[in-house]
Parts: sequence; structure tokens; C-alpha cells
Amino acid sequence: LHVIHIAAEMAPVAKVGGLGDVVTGLGKALQKKGHLVEIVLPKYDCMQYDRIRDLRVLDATVYSYFDGKLFQNKVWTGTVEGLPVYFIEPHHPSKFFWRGQYYGEQDDFKRFSFFSRAALELLLQVGKKPDIIHCHDWQTAFVAPLYWDLYFPKGLNSARICFTCHNFEYQGAAPASELASCGLDVQQLHRPDRMQDNSAHDRVNPIKGAIVFSNIVTTVSPTYAQEVRTAEGGKGLHSTLNFHSKKFMGILNGIDTDAWDPATDIFLKVQYTANDLQGKAENKAAMRRHLRLSSADDSQPLVGCITRLVPQKGVHLIRHAIYRTLEMGGQFVLLGSSPVPHIQREFKGIANQFQDHEHIRLILKYDESLSRYIYAASDMFIIPSIFEPCGLTQMIAMRYGSVPIVRKTGGLNDRD
Ligand code: ADP
Ligand code: GLC
Repeated sequence: LHVIHIAAEMAPVAKVGGLGDVVTGLGKALQKKGHLVEIVLPKYDCMQYDRIRDLRVLDATVYSYFDGKLFQNKVWTGTVEGLPVYFIEPHHPSKFFWRGQYYGEQDDFKRFSFFSRAALELLLQVGKKPDIIHCHDWQTAFVAPLYWDLYFPKGLNSARICFTCHNFEYQGAAPASELASCGLDVQQLHRPDRMQDNSAHDRVNPIKGAIVFSNIVTTVSPTYAQEVRTAEGGKGLHSTLNFHSKKFMGILNGIDTDAWDPATDIFLKVQYTANDLQGKAENKAAMRRHLRLSSADDSQPLVGCITRLVPQKGVHLIRHAIYRTLEMGGQFVLLGSSPVPHIQREFKGIANQFQDHEHIRLILKYDESLSRYIYAASDMFIIPSIFEPCGLTQMIAMRYGSVPIVRKTGGLNDRD
């Protein structure tokens, strides 16, 4: 099969969380099975360009429509982890992907509806005939209605649409009029059985649109698929999911065991395997020195936590676990990145409180190399999420020989 993913993240070049890991891991797994896989991404200024191979400009300029005008897009091709990728760079005065961050901009709805349309325009203009177009999360959910309304009639018609929702918390709803910018018909779509938001009736909901218009809708674990079909778990979309239940299912994510492998991980102090735990102990000792934690007692357990610090992840339980670990005689290392200012402030306060403590360290940033080192150094790993569509850190922790301690929710309750 020819599968094209249209996505807002791809590890390791443009990763905020697990979405990036899954786009790359799933792409590589399908490629290994002999399928032709390609990825379409925005060309962000803040990407890790050193992880892209053979980046070059495509000869053809792709024109795409937005706000009643045609815009030129420069398209780049490159290879990431062996996967061919198209990067779209719009020539739009708003410099949509030149913002120094992936998400969290006032005009995210515009940025990603623009990108969804430009991605389909690229496929049409370069003559792709994919069997499956796979879009992910609200940022590229626009692809489903755009494909059937505008591109299928224009001849980009070989594909069926698969939509994966990695987290129903983020739905991207916006005032209905905003939908017009990417050329979708507001009157046709702002209806209860199409894209109208189930609670804020003056809004359109991209996730709802993708549920309605895709051929297959998946989420990232069987338990979460059940949870989101209830009023408590569905974040307003349970009735839509129940109505479309025949095409909706939960498929458990996996991790890329080549990308996450303590036997080859170059960021570790020492590589090791499940049969040689001396290597793991050396990483723990080195990490304690590196973070200036006490190494007086070898048997003192090290508890790790690597997470986006957002309410979903159970931040109050993480805070509790820090103090409880200390009480119980353990050591705690948190690597956390937060887009939420009051949570960032709160954890900064705790980090300062423990700045020179011999058993606690909080590092408040995104840092991939340090994350790998912490997976390797820790004995236990906590994930006290309030809800968790799948979660990858429990799988990575197990791969690195660290025992996950989790709340029983969503994908944390599933195993293959
Ligand atoms: P989510 O996508 O909800 O954040 P997942 O468990 O699916 O949760 O995936 C998180 C991914 O992001 C993992 O690869 C994890 O190692 C990584 N990650 C999370 N926070 C950080 C951080 N502060 N620094 C480095 N990597 C992080
Ligand atoms: C989302 C979810 C997380 C899941 C990841 C990859 O970010 O919060 O649980 O593992 O997507 O599917």
C-alpha cells in the first residue's frame, strides 16, 4: 500500500510529545512490512534540521488557496529516520511556521487549516495516488472534509481517509466562520451531524469533522476507545463517537524498539542489555554524579518521571510523589516541560526549594538526550495520569529496565 501521513509532529525533527514518536514509529513499521510510506509536515523554523538528511527544495512550486487568495508554497524534501518527508513552507505574510514553537499560537486554527489544505494540494499537484491518507489530531483533521469536498472531485481520489485521535482533550474548536479560510463550506458543515461543536454551538470542531468524514477513525488504545464513548471521558464527543461506532476502534500504540534501545543508545553513559544490568547501574551512578545527587547508598532507589507538565499527567500526584519518595528514602528526578504558566511557576518553586538537595532534582525543560539518560538511570518510573490515551513513557521505561508505576487509566491499562 501507499500510505501518506499528514501530521504536525514527527520525531525526532519536530516532536512535542508522543504524536511525534508514533508518526515516525508507525511509518517505519509499515515501511518494514513493504509498504510505501511518505510523510507531509510543516517546515517549522524550530525543527531539528541536523536530523534531516538530503534536505532540498522541490522543483515545483505548489499553490494553495486561503482566505480567498492563492499562496505559493515552497516544498522541501528530505529523509528522516529512513522515511521520505515533504516539508511545506508557505509564502504567507503571517509566517505560519516561523514562530519558534510548534503550537500554542493565537492563530493555530488558521495555521493548521492552511497546512491541511496545502498538503492535499501538494499531493494533487505532484500526482500522488495514495491508497491511504492518514491524518492525526485536530491539526490535520481538516484533511478529511477537505478531501471529500474539494480534492476527490478534482481527481485526488485513489485514497481512503484514516484519522487517528491521539487525545480527545485537544479538539481545536473555533468560531464557525473561521472554517471558510481554507475553502470549506461553512453553511454545509456547521450542522449538528457534521462539524458543529456539540457544546458550543457557534463553533466548528475539527475532530468531529474528521470523525464524520473519515473512512476509519482510530484512537491509541482499546481502553481509551471505551472511555471516550462515555459522557465522562468523551470531552463532548461521546455521542458522535457512539453514532459512528462502526468505524471507530482503539489500537494500542507501540514504541520503535530501534529508536529506543539501551544497547545502542548513544546518549547513555554506558550501553546495556536486559542480560547485563551492571551497565544500568553504571548509568545510575553517572547520573547521580551528573545531577549532584548523593551516591552514598547504592541500594537507594531512583524514581524517574519524564513528562509534559499538564493537568492530564496528574501534576498534583507527581508533586505528592516527590515528597513521598523523599519520606520513604528514595531519590527523585523529574524532567518536565510545561506550556501552562501556573504549573511551570509551581514546579519552578519546587525546583528552587530542592536546588541543592542531595536526593531530589527537577529539570524543567524539554531535553531528549537527558530523557534517555533518565530512563536508563532510574529504577522506577511514575505516570500518575488522570487520563492517558495511550502513553509511551511506560513502554520506554520498560525497555530501559525501569519499573513503571501508573494510574490505571486508558492505555496504561492495556498491554499487547
Ligand atoms: P504525551 O504525548 O501525552 O506527552 P506520551 O507518553 O505518549 O505522552 O509521549 C511522551 C513522549 O515525549 C515520550 O517520548 C517522552 O520521552 C517525551 N517527553 C515528554 N516530556 C519530555 C521532556 N521534558 N523532555 C524530553 N522528552 C520528553
Ligand atoms: C497523545 C496522548 C498519549 C499518546 C500519544 C501518542 O499525546 O496524550 O497518551 O501516547 O498521543 O499516541
